[in-house]
Amino acid sequence: MPGPLDPSLPVAMFDSGVGGLTVLHECLVSLPEEDFVYLGDTDWFPYGTRDPRLLRARIEGIASLLLARGAKLLVIACNTATSIGEDVARAVAAEHGVEVVPVVAPQAEIAAAITDSGRVGVLATPNTVESGAYRHALEAQGRPLEVIEVEAPDLAPFIQNGSLFDESAVTMARAYCAPLRAAEVDTLILGCTHYPLVAPMLQRILGRDVRLVSGGHAVAAAAQRTLEGAGLARERREEGDYRFLCTGESAAFREVGTRFLQMPLGEVEQVEIPARH
Ligand code: DGL
Repeated sequence: MPGPLDPSLPVAMFDSGVGGLTVLHECLVSLPEEDFVYLGDTDWFPYGTRDPRLLRARIEGIASLLLARGAKLLVIACNTATSIGEDVARAVAAEHGVEVVPVVAPQAEIAAAITDSGRVGVLATPNTVESGAYRHALEAQGRPLEVIEVEAPDLAPFIQNGSLFDESAVTMARAYCAPLRAAEVDTLILGCTHYPLVAPMLQRILGRDVRLVSGGHAVAAAAQRTLEGAGLARERREEGDYRFLCTGESAAFREVGTRFLQMPLGEVEQVEIPARH
């Protein structure tokens, strides 16, 4: 049996790259007094097209590494990791007596609550769409919804690479949005934590009447509720600390991450993910 957790431990979170920084941002706004450790698995990016079986083992390794270093909560700041391996992350976290906050369910709840027409779009990675995670989460909301899912294999890599917003980028985004426009969705779930970083481009293509739902805010609220419920929230007033780990080249992660998070990432530690078995 794991012992009681110390409230001074950090909140750990991970993504395949810089996308989860959109979740970290919301957590820093809601929980400024907490310490955070963020891992970007840049060596394995993109998760969206990886073999799900290998991805599950990788997620297990990441959760083990983060929790072995000490954390009081694990946030899965990646929709693909949540869709493919939420159960694996939960199993590792349970060994440490740590709770898990995932990303898919909170967005489904918001989308079902705000759609007028009941036509909800989901833009996500191929793995996320194929897992059926959003479809199931939306079905569980208890109101009949028409769900239009679009796989966007090239969108997260475009963002992760820090590419320019040139004509080809807009053409790619238009192509992904075409079926959503044709289906006249009034609500679009940004089903990948990278996508809020290109929300202005998507909003322009889809028009003012389509509401974009990203998960960060709801995840931050869930993290806050979980910490308070477990008596693990920090009571202090001063700002917490944040640390970054990545598995690929750290300079590239620091550069793109600093630009998107709009604050210095500082030293980024390069780590290797242990194989669990
Ligand atoms: N940010 C990710 C997600 O939420 C990952 C994109 C990828 O690695 O393909 O799905």
